[in-house]
Amino acid sequence: MLKISNIYKSFGNLEVLKDISLTIGKGEIVAIIGPSGAGKTTLLQIAGTLEAPDRGSVSFNGTELIGMKDKKLSEFRNRNMGFVFQFHQLLPEFTAQENVALPAMIGGMSKGKAMKRAAELLEQLGLGERLHHKPAEMSGGERQRTAIARALVNDPEIIFADEPTGSLDSSNRREIEGIFRDLRDRLGQTIVIVTHDSSLAAIADRVIEMADGRILLPVVDSLDAGGDGGEDFVGDSVEEVGETVD
Ligand SMILES: Nc1ncnc2c1ncn2[C@@H]1O[C@H](COP(=O)(O)OP(=O)(O)OP(=O)(O)O)[C@@H](O)[C@H]1O
Ligand SMILES: [Mg+2]
Repeated sequence: MLKISNIYKSFGNLEVLKDISLTIGKGEIVAIIGPSGAGKTTLLQIAGTLEAPDRGSVSFNGTELIGMKDKKLSEFRNRNMGFVFQFHQLLPEFTAQENVALPAMIGGMSKGKAMKRAAELLEQLGLGERLHHKPAEMSGGERQRTAIARALVNDPEIIFADEPTGSLDSSNRREIEGIFRDLRDRLGQTIVIVTHDSSLAAIADRVIEMADGRILLPVVDSLDAGGDGGEDFVGDSVEEVGETVD
């Protein structure tokens, strides 16, 4: 569904992503983990076309997204991608229902239909009693569930979540975890989650570990997260994987 190939990204002379390639299949939850500064958010933003890479390709069901014109790209994003961030990023002056309805209205749905769809989603996420609450009038867990409803409103092909449980206590974290699991199991929703939360990562079908702008290949014993910084790091790891896994 989503194919990211040979992505490079620098900020000034800081090379943040170094030749990242990754494929996300339909209906899978992929977790991206790794130390702070590894480049996880940058990768997620590039995968979600919120940021452009310096080089490389992001292709979505065969359509190349890099280089697409802004207007076309934001329409594409609105239709196909949902986003959940660590800090909900709901609009403070709007109610939960309005916040959820907005992306649908931007996508061309009538206000009446969008508000109805928003109410249904909020009800499904246990927020039927909170439709008319503004973000400041909700708990952190409620706000994050509202943000998930907003991400779902246009039936996206893929959801990108950056530390979705990062600002929540453990019971709210478990709740968000259950919602993501349910979305995959019930609807076959494709989800990419950047997280430091090992329990959330554990629901993933695949866990991708990043360090220092690269993806570490999976090995049974966890790799030294820092790598050795050597140019042949990935090549070296392939041999290691060959010995340990296959
Ligand atoms: N807009 C920017 N301008 C300059 N440097 C940036 C910018 N965004 C990110 N960086 C740098 O790029 C590196 C990777 O950042 P990124 O946010 O992708 O890390 P991360 O893995 O998500 O970390 P965390 O777990 O702390 O969220 C960091 O060193 C960061 O300081
Ligand atoms: Mg981050």
